[in-house]
Amino acid sequence: MIKIAPSILSADFANLERDIHRIGTADYVHVDVMDGLFVPNITIGIPVVKCIRPVTILPLDVHLMITRPVRYVQQFCDAGADIVTVHVESDTRENIRDAIDKIHAKGRRAGVVLKPGTPAQAVEPFLKDVELILIMTVEPGFGGQSFMADQMPKVAAVRAMINAQNPTCELEVDGGVGPDTFRACIQAGANVLVAGSAVYKAPDIPARIRELRG
Ligand code: DX5
Ligand code: ZN
Repeated sequence: MIKIAPSILSADFANLERDIHRIGTADYVHVDVMDGLFVPNITIGIPVVKCIRPVTILPLDVHLMITRPVRYVQQFCDAGADIVTVHVESDTRENIRDAIDKIHAKGRRAGVVLKPGTPAQAVEPFLKDVELILIMTVEPGFGGQSFMADQMPKVAAVRAMINAQNPTCELEVDGGVGPDTFRACIQAGANVLVAGSAVYKAPDIPARIRELRG
C-alpha cells in the first residue's frame, strides 16, 4: 500500500487549517522545515508544528532541512511531530545518531534523509535504527522543481538494503513527484510519496491523492 504525504510547503500559509483539511484523505502531512543555512530558504518551525497538531489526526512527517538538527529534535517532538527526519549531511555521524536517539526517547519515529548527491551507502550506519529513509529527488530548498529520475537507482539500492536489514522501515521520496513521475518511484521501491505542487495545484485534491497511490 502506497502512502501519500502532501507537502504543506505548497499550501496557502494564510489558510493553513483549510489546506490541511483539504488533504484529509492522505496518510501523512509533510512539513518542510528550513533554516536558511542548510538550504537557501526559510520556511516554518516549531510554533507552526504546534499550531497544526490539533487540526488534523494525520501523522506529522517533519522534514528538517536545518544544520545540526540534534539541537531541536526534542522540541519538534514536543510540538507534535510523529516522524522526524534529519539529513545525514547536516552534522557528524555521532550527532545524527544522537538526534535519532533523542527522537526515539520521545516515543516518535526517526528517519534519515539523503540529498541527491549523497550515495545510498550513507544510510548504512543508521539503517537498523530508523523507521524511515527519505531520498530527495530534487535539491532540497524549494517546492515545484523538476524530478531527478537519476535518483531511481539509489532508491532501488536503498530498498534492497531495507529489505535485507530492516524490512519494516519505510522508504520515502520527495521532490517533483506527480502524475508523470510517481510510477518510477513505486517501481524503484518507494512506499511513501511526498508531493507538494502535484497535490495542491490539482483541481480535485482527493482524486489526485488517489491517482498517486497507483
Ligand atoms: C523540498 C521539500 C519538498 C517540496 C516538494 O526541499 O523537501 O518536500 O515541498 O515539493 P514538490 O512536490 O512541489 O516538488
Ligand atoms: Zn520535504
